[in-house]
Amino acid sequence: MKVLRAQSALAFGGLLSVFSSVRAADECVPWTWTWNLRRAAAATPTVAELGATPMPEPTVVPYARKDAEPQPGEVNCRNWGQTYDNVGYWSCSQLATEFGITIEKFWELNPELAPDCEGVQPNTEYCVAGFIEPVRAVDGRCGPDYKNATCIGTEFGQCCNSETWKCGDTEHDCSLGVCYEGQCPGHKIYTTDGNCGYKFNFSQCAGKWGPCCNLEGRCGTGLDFCGEGKCQSGNCTEWNTPA
Ligand SMILES: *[C@@H]1O[C@H](CO)[C@@H](O)[C@H](O)[C@H]1NC(C)=O
Ligand SMILES: *[C@@H]1O[C@H](CO)[C@@H](O)[C@H](O)[C@H]1NC(C)=O
Ligand SMILES: *[C@@H]1O[C@H](CO)[C@@H](O)[C@H](O)[C@H]1NC(C)=O
Repeated sequence: MKVLRAQSALAFGGLLSVFSSVRAADECVPWTWTWNLRRAAAATPTVAELGATPMPEPTVVPYARKDAEPQPGEVNCRNWGQTYDNVGYWSCSQLATEFGITIEKFWELNPELAPDCEGVQPNTEYCVAGFIEPVRAVDGRCGPDYKNATCIGTEFGQCCNSETWKCGDTEHDCSLGVCYEGQCPGHKIYTTDGNCGYKFNFSQCAGKWGPCCNLEGRCGTGLDFCGEGKCQSGNCTEWNTPA
């Protein structure tokens, strides 16, 4: 697995616009950029003319690739920490502690060092903040039929609409009961198909489905769903309060 380095100038909060801002701000220049500039600037006299040893090409290390965006499943690193002169089995937990992450998170971000920090190098940068890059809805299509692609960080909107399986930003797209995932609690908490309760992973009713889950595990409104002896969860009191 390649571990990729993103510009630390991009704050974590900029994640939503990470793709557009990277391109727009032109921050993701290849890391040989400075070298090429330096060479161009040093055009007269050339190193050959001076009889000096030419500057060696820098070694390309995989985790220092700044010119590529992380692919799904790869580490999207947002911050880096450096080891000291002396390294050992303790260096990984030392870095984790220093940057306030768990050792499990550290292994996730630096899988090549798991599970015992073997092979850790001195004075070397390792990832100390970030996440595994998800599949993103690059074409605006999201949800189970589209590789569970997430709308987060796409240009189409941050909410996956479970009626259209398209990313969007309208109030409806992001509403409870409609929003499958994205900038909303999503289907793991609120039903997007009207099924609810203990039979369906304790999915909750909301929005267009009505406030109550009946004993059969369907959402709805009125006495058949919210009434005593019918309602298993939700706003069961709504129809029970005496007139
Ligand atoms: C998408 O997510 C659903 C529910 O979390 C899961 O059952 C399904 O296997 C996933 N599909 C893919 C292609 O990952
Ligand atoms: C079940 O619900 C919990 C939280 O309520 C969630 O973390 C989990 O992913 C859900 N499982 C499935 C299969 O949706
Ligand atoms: C529950 O129903 C009552 C009565 O209609 C309402 O005033 C209250 O806002 C509802 N609560 C929720 C959480 O929907």
